[in-house]
Amino acid sequence: MPYYPDDVINEIFAENDIIDYVSRYVKLKKTGKDYSGLCPFHKEKSPSFHVSREKQLYHCFGCGASGNLIQFVMKSEGLDFVEAIKLLAERAGITLPENPEDGMDVSHEYKKKIYEMNRIAARFYYETLTKSPEGKIGYEYFVERMIKPNTIVVYGLGYAPDKNNALFLHLKDKGYSDKEIIDGGLAVERNNKIYDKFRNRVMFPIIDLRGNVIGFGGRIMGQASEQNGYKIPKYLNSAETAVFNKGRNLFSLNLAKKSSPYSIILVEGYMDVISVYQAGIKNVVATLGTALTENQAKLLMKYCSEILICYDSDEAGQKATIRAIEIINSVGGHSRVIKLKGAKDPDEYIKANGAAQFYKAVSEAVASTQFRLGILRTKYSLDSPEGKSLYVKEAVTVLQSIPDAVEVDAYINRISDETNVNRDAIYSEYSKIISANAKRNILFGDRNELKQDTGSNESIIPVDVPPMIVSAEKKLIYLMVENKKFISEVQNTFPAEEFSTETHKKLVKLIYDLKNENKNIEPSVLVNAFEGDEINYVSNLFYNLEEYKDLNKTVSELIKNIKTEKIKNQMMNEKNPEVISELIKQLSELSAENK
Ligand code: GTP
Ligand code: MN
Repeated sequence: MPYYPDDVINEIFAENDIIDYVSRYVKLKKTGKDYSGLCPFHKEKSPSFHVSREKQLYHCFGCGASGNLIQFVMKSEGLDFVEAIKLLAERAGITLPENPEDGMDVSHEYKKKIYEMNRIAARFYYETLTKSPEGKIGYEYFVERMIKPNTIVVYGLGYAPDKNNALFLHLKDKGYSDKEIIDGGLAVERNNKIYDKFRNRVMFPIIDLRGNVIGFGGRIMGQASEQNGYKIPKYLNSAETAVFNKGRNLFSLNLAKKSSPYSIILVEGYMDVISVYQAGIKNVVATLGTALTENQAKLLMKYCSEILICYDSDEAGQKATIRAIEIINSVGGHSRVIKLKGAKDPDEYIKANGAAQFYKAVSEAVASTQFRLGILRTKYSLDSPEGKSLYVKEAVTVLQSIPDAVEVDAYINRISDETNVNRDAIYSEYSKIISANAKRNILFGDRNELKQDTGSNESIIPVDVPPMIVSAEKKLIYLMVENKKFISEVQNTFPAEEFSTETHKKLVKLIYDLKNENKNIEPSVLVNAFEGDEINYVSNLFYNLEEYKDLNKTVSELIKNIKTEKIKNQMMNEKNPEVISELIKQLSELSAENK
């Protein structure tokens, strides 16, 4: 079977939302945190088919069908794995590696090699910029754009020579093969010749949270232009490689997170980041030439409490701002918007008005709801009753995602003030929208009564494993994925091989590996590693409906219970009295713990 690198699969998940996709087949309604509808895989009159945006999984409480988006596509379209991947990639505009069989080798060793190669490339660009005569043109460009020498050092900026294959020859010299240099995204093959990917551009290395150089952005020194009918893009970014995923990394997050900031400013471009940084604000990041993804929003939320969006002030920037607000909302984050008057972007604003004015603009950032209502206001004329009605109807849809009732109330007052529409009328429009959801919650609210453990599958759980251990392990795995802080604790106690079933071992090993590589751990991605009956089993495991009051306590109890059960199990099979008395000792020590 063709093998696609993890990063490709991850990108497919990041760019295809399961709710969007499933909605084409099933009429979904919001039900608490999930969406629900009639199961497309069996006949039913009342909806027991649930889809979770958070987990990116679907699950039917009626027939037990369960899985991630790829599995949904396979099942609903009758496709195999590769066909489903192709369909989803096409839908999201993702280019798949052409020959996945002999495609990228993504072993740990291979990645390490690409990291090293990228570091050498970054150094090469940097030295060319700062030390060689041919880099002078790049250096002068940065000076003209008021970039200080120290900033060049901090960001490791560089210059890619105006030659066909200067970097390629340098890397060959260091012992890298043609294939490695091409796979690493630093050179491209055309007509049987190999060319440097970046030529005659100033270079911005992209560095991940562990300090690895994962890719580059390169800018021409001047305006975008056309040459022999070929449009030369202003920026060129590294293609996705075994180590570079645009939707999962952010430019300068490695620097921004250092000060453990309360907020992080999100801008559009590399130059904006650098200008803001030079103005003395270090908690600033940019996406890598693409729109903000849920994944990036979640990543940012790990390092700050609120995201201050400061995109370009043109219409495209405004649209991107609204999209970013929605993305951040959808993953439960907070955002505000920094408005810049009289300038295209933060870079231009700081140059025109100075750092102090920019600080002021930052301090005046408006709440994202207020920002969205402001934009709506300009869309409708409030002079006519019709205009007012349209405005109010659209405004209340903006309010529906606010979880705080007091805040909603305050906004309703504000809308009433600006439109002169009675607040009860606005409230009634607002209620209409949320009442559908509320009804659903009453009908399906008590999900604990729904059938829970559909996952006890004989082919997956050997008969000699005590059910108590299986069930405790399942909960432990669920809790590790729900709340990543528990992973280390569990990892320190139980290596993956000590879990009781093959499925658990495989799943836990995957979780530990992803954690060690500092990668995101999503149920939908984990489920993807399994086949056949295991898919349902694993997916079910993440549909845990139990409510845990004190998570820390639950985790320690589960660990203790598993240890106890294991010792008891061992005792039953043990004949040697000395060993038995040792086990008894261990048991009593365990039960004495944290009492
Ligand atoms: P300056 O124009 O030099 O001030 O840079 P900027 O960083 O402000 O760029 P801009 O606002 O035009 O674009 C924002 C981001 O979009 C850039 O940092 C790039 O990541 C990306 N981008 C811009 N132009 C291109 C392009 O032609 N091709 C690609 N692939 N990405 C681009
Ligand atoms: Mn810009």
